[in-house]
Amino acid sequence: MNRIRKAVFPVAGLGTRFLPATKAQPKEMLPVVDKPLIQYAVEEAVAAGITELVFVTGRNKRAIEDHFDAAQELEDELEAAGKTKLLEALQNTVPPNVHCIYIRQPAPLGLGHAVLCARPVIGREPFAVLLADDLMDVDAGQKPVLAQMVDAYHREGASLLAVQDVPREETRQYGIVSTTPYKAGLEQVQGIVEKPAPEAAPSTLGVVGRYVLGNRIFGCLEGVGKGAGGEIQLTDGIAELMKHEQVLALRYAGRRFDCGSKLGYLQATVEMGLKHPDMGAAFARYLEQRK
Ligand code: G1P
Repeated sequence: MNRIRKAVFPVAGLGTRFLPATKAQPKEMLPVVDKPLIQYAVEEAVAAGITELVFVTGRNKRAIEDHFDAAQELEDELEAAGKTKLLEALQNTVPPNVHCIYIRQPAPLGLGHAVLCARPVIGREPFAVLLADDLMDVDAGQKPVLAQMVDAYHREGASLLAVQDVPREETRQYGIVSTTPYKAGLEQVQGIVEKPAPEAAPSTLGVVGRYVLGNRIFGCLEGVGKGAGGEIQLTDGIAELMKHEQVLALRYAGRRFDCGSKLGYLQATVEMGLKHPDMGAAFARYLEQRK
């Protein structure tokens, strides 16, 4: 079975929900404490053994490329000033054995289309997809969510979706799956539909932004037309993939923050702030005293 070496980060979205903050910068560059959202997703991928990071970018996304590039002048300055900790943080945005590859999505035609744009660099391998909007947090000692999925992929050899229960009134925000029991933590996906109305949703099990997909998904995506919202949906490609092979859902261990919404973004900021090695304790005291 092929090892998962490559991950796709669709980052071409417009980020309209955070305007005007995202007028001149990508939403993936919004910081949670001191790291941009995209870096949390990249670190999760690297922790899962991914070495090829494929960013599907669009207009106004140059800041992402700059972020993962070396910044020689800044490094020289920090070095001269003896600021070694900051220098390390700057140099470790990606480890030396990890490569960044950038592909343009020529028009915002949807998540499925963005994934299809990565086909030339994915080749014939299985791969992961991470949506940086979803910040996945785990407890100390727990494996990061993508690593849980990669482990399950290596055991089962089937495409996998990360899922969680969502409130019925929110089904319109998610791909929703219907499943049957399979093995501990895993379920077999029987159906998947993009953003159904609460009364039409087959269940309340929502897909979050982590996928491990077999290569056949590309052929499936080629065939799907416009779906929900007039876009080419990854969900519809997965529905097609299920006609050919097994797709599993993993109820991951951990917590997801929906950083595509302001409330989720603020929650992530509070939780990551509390966990921060330098100022977590001071922040906790602040929150305590303002109650
Ligand atoms: C995308 C997917 C959806 C999935 C969600 C997870 O939607 O299309 O199936 O449930 O991510 O965050 P978006 O949030 O980009 O509208």
